[in-house]
Amino acid sequence: MLRRYAVVLCVFALCLAAEVGARRPLLPQKSGVSKSSFGSVPDAGDVDMFTLTNANGVEIRAITYGAIITSIRVPDRSGRFADVVLGFDNLEGYLKGHPYFGTVVGRYGNRIGGGHFTLNGQAFKLAQNNGPNHLHGGVKGFDKYVWKAEPLQNGLGVAFSRTSPDGEEGYPGNLAAHVTYTLTDKNELVVDYHATTDKATPVNLTQHSYFNLSGDPSTTILGHELRIDADRYTPVDATLIPTGELVPVQGTPFDFRKPTTIGARIEQPHEQLKFGRGYDHNWVLNRKGSQPAFAARVLEPKTGRTVEVATTEPGVQFYTGNFLDGTIKGKGGQVYNQRAGLCLETQHFPDSPNKPNFPSTVLQPGKEYTTRTVFTFGVAR
Ligand code: GLA
Repeated sequence: MLRRYAVVLCVFALCLAAEVGARRPLLPQKSGVSKSSFGSVPDAGDVDMFTLTNANGVEIRAITYGAIITSIRVPDRSGRFADVVLGFDNLEGYLKGHPYFGTVVGRYGNRIGGGHFTLNGQAFKLAQNNGPNHLHGGVKGFDKYVWKAEPLQNGLGVAFSRTSPDGEEGYPGNLAAHVTYTLTDKNELVVDYHATTDKATPVNLTQHSYFNLSGDPSTTILGHELRIDADRYTPVDATLIPTGELVPVQGTPFDFRKPTTIGARIEQPHEQLKFGRGYDHNWVLNRKGSQPAFAARVLEPKTGRTVEVATTEPGVQFYTGNFLDGTIKGKGGQVYNQRAGLCLETQHFPDSPNKPNFPSTVLQPGKEYTTRTVFTFGVAR
């Protein structure tokens, strides 16, 4: 009898411990940054992992390979923490090839039509690594290099840097790029991008995290609600290159000006949804001015987790993980099926180097490229 009580008590204690472990820490945590080893890349050297924590127990991990964000642990409305981004448990997963999970994308995020552009009368030829087009910086973009990194002096983040040499992937000029991740006690992940060059070059850096705010990537993101502060988007051709027009979202499945469930219209027989196999388009943000301003907000209704995106960029590529097809096994052996994650890639518009009517992406020598995107994690009660 006594033994049975002891067993029941033990099970109860274990359940309680597991529960408490998953919940918001009762005492404020210490913010900080720590560094550990994450393996090494053949011929490219050691890879480090930086773990950022804040006073609320939020934790973000990033590695020097691709400046990849490997995990973001945030609480739900009952204080339960979960990892809300797709990725792998170890470096081998990232080295095997994957669709840019958590990476910094560069030198040019998204597509350049036909893999070519002309700048100051000179023609440049880039890799056609996505059908006829150039995608995400080419065959070996910024996502596949080991970056240098050091913790920020303020103890709240990490600074990554790399110099992309003149001619890398066909782009002109030595480009010195810096990306910092800062985690504040307001549960903000602040991403700062900075670059300088010695020859005029297009630059378009972005962050390619795949969010699933449920914390359970065996479920799709179709039930997440999304709001995008954009009256227009840039429709594309069948190869996902913008036609050049800025078209009103009004009356189309691209109207997210009011919070709308992502799955509500994704299967509508709209030509643009066919081209993208779902959403894989650039929205023209309404935001104005030089400071980060509201771009988009996602809510996962069951857990109440939210992420709000503010940026200095003119556009955001909203991508619903349409090309995930169950062939990749991520963290914990989880299979990533179609729509297991969504991306909100703040950026200049795709194919800007070939679209004179789009805001310019050309960085001139002597000038500074500085953009900022803030992801704020929260809960809706
Ligand atoms: C971006 C592109 C998509 C796809 C993903 C990676 O979001 O717009 O078409 O290439 O990256 O798979």
